[in-house]
Amino acid sequence: EAVDAPAGVLVGRRGRVGLIVLDRPQALNALNNQAMDAVVTAAERFDVDDTIGAIVLTGAGRAFAAGADIKEMAELGYAEATGRDLFAGWDALTRIRTPLIAAVNGFALGGGCELAMMCDVIIAADTAKFGQPEINLGVVPGMGGTQRLTRAVGKAKAMELILTGRMMDAREAESAGLVARVVAADALLDDVLAMADGIAEKSLPALYAATELVDAAFESTLAEGVARERRTFHAAFALDDQKEGMRAFIEKREPRFTHR
Ligand code: HXC
Repeated sequence: EAVDAPAGVLVGRRGRVGLIVLDRPQALNALNNQAMDAVVTAAERFDVDDTIGAIVLTGAGRAFAAGADIKEMAELGYAEATGRDLFAGWDALTRIRTPLIAAVNGFALGGGCELAMMCDVIIAADTAKFGQPEINLGVVPGMGGTQRLTRAVGKAKAMELILTGRMMDAREAESAGLVARVVAADALLDDVLAMADGIAEKSLPALYAATELVDAAFESTLAEGVARERRTFHAAFALDDQKEGMRAFIEKREPRFTHR
């Protein structure tokens, strides 16, 4: 069921899962402003819709996204880049509380890799390729790559990737900790949608709390994060979903959460 179809981005839903597809395959889904607005708008709409419990972001064709649109930004000056606050609009994705899963089907380079890293989970096709090739263009990553890649894979590998601009394949990305799982390319979307269906059946307040808390691990000290987690855990006992989840376990049946 299609909800909206702005140029270059397809948006739809299946059951409780929202689907956003970068669909400009002739440009390897290079990310321009229109794509940014469409993806962010779609994700924000899904996020306030409590009939949606998970969002999947993927790309059509050979790429997830081969980066920011080089042709669009090649002739910009500093004043324009800073005046438009180029790429700052993508930050809105990091405030989406509904679990956001990147299904990386092919190239995830530059802004494409950074977009995947803004998602909560990355699942990669065995054909996926990740990299931050900005150094080859005379620039540096500009959508969080120096920060998120370093947190994901550690300084040694992040520095090597960002200084050389080389690509890494899906297996290397998985063993480095960037990717949760690698699946066969032709099974990627089915696999990720099935995973999203499963997530979307869980208690929505618990899902929101989980994405916030895991993200907090990057923003706070260990003691602060653990304290916040404990209070959030305590607060879960105010919801009937906690009663339902624990009773269902004891009664050996599947839970039916109310807040979902
Ligand atoms: C605009 C792009 C593009 C991009 C590919 N295309 N990547 N257009 N911006 N980032 C276009 C090509 O120009 C070409 O258009 C078409 O897509 C197919 O790409 P090819 O290069 O012909 O394909 P192939 O030879 O298979 O090579 C695939 C590739 C290569 C290795 C992924 O396309 C590539 O290196 N792309 C650029 C990757 C990159 O540097 N990304 C970082 C961008 S900077 P035509 O019209 O010729 O058919 C960035 C910065 C983030 O993301 C923020 C900080 C500033």
